[in-house]
Amino acid sequence: MKLFLAAITAIILCSAAQAAETIAPGAVWPDGHGQHIQAHGGGITKIGDTYYWFGEDRARDNERGLRCVSCYSSTDLAHWTHRHQVVKLADPENLGRGWILERPKVFYNAATKKFVMYAHIDNGRYNFAGVAVLVCDTVDGDYQYLKSFRPLGHESRDIGQFIDDDGTAYLIFEARPSGFRITKLSDDYLTVEKEICLVPEHLEGGALVHYDGLYYVIGSELTGWNANPNKYATAKSLAGPWSEFKDIAPPEKNTYGSQSTMLLKVAGTKTTSVIFMGDIWKPATQWDSRYLWMPLEIGGGKMSLPAPHEWTLDTATGEATIKK
Ligand code: GAL
Repeated sequence: MKLFLAAITAIILCSAAQAAETIAPGAVWPDGHGQHIQAHGGGITKIGDTYYWFGEDRARDNERGLRCVSCYSSTDLAHWTHRHQVVKLADPENLGRGWILERPKVFYNAATKKFVMYAHIDNGRYNFAGVAVLVCDTVDGDYQYLKSFRPLGHESRDIGQFIDDDGTAYLIFEARPSGFRITKLSDDYLTVEKEICLVPEHLEGGALVHYDGLYYVIGSELTGWNANPNKYATAKSLAGPWSEFKDIAPPEKNTYGSQSTMLLKVAGTKTTSVIFMGDIWKPATQWDSRYLWMPLEIGGGKMSLPAPHEWTLDTATGEATIKK
């Protein structure tokens, strides 16, 4: 009997461990305390073997008037530990009720040893159109608000983060009325230093990845919280020329109800996977907004988002497997 119970326990533990590596797009995604992850419009910063996921914390019990960002950590990208609510900010620019702090992204500057957060800061009418910069000495400490500005004088709404393979840090932003700008940060990351490219396409939720010698840029159309067909283009250099934009999925699927926020490259011992990180927004119940993360089919200048399905990831080998 004892042996039998031990065997059953082993089977249960084993399947729990397996299930743990599974990523289920669109489902409630509990953290280590069983709370749905609050990291919307987020981004990932990798330090050593640990991934830190930062995003908008839209929990229902956050104090009204404050805008919050939470940080989670993981080594397998499936199990996430809530580290800290790293931002709890009260309207630093007097933007009024309904001010917003969205799409936070954290860059680690090895020279200054500072963690530098960029976010979209705006008023409720979205016409302030700037970036906020916050800094911290530790990855998951209390980020201090430094300033806000319009990068290189341009309107900036949705922002995205890109670190190239050589470590150079870029900020990308939707810059009405011209399009979408790829810019390089200054050496200390505290400001935007120069423009690398203006892509004359109206893209939000912008993200970039450098894969097999090509840059792939992705973004969504400008339809607010409503999903639309996200598109991608490729170039040999960030400065372009960029190819024409193509759909990442059948357009009638509207990116399976999601909007891009980041492309995450997981380079392992066997292969390199690129993960589409998207948000499934629920505007009336934002705390319940979901995530759509799926491994992309990518290569040879093509990128395609498979229909959402449970999948597993081995961050050591880089292998992503969509379950049958
Ligand atoms: C979306 C944007 C979101 C949020 C929303 C507000 O287009 O991607 O981050 O700003 O609009 O309507």
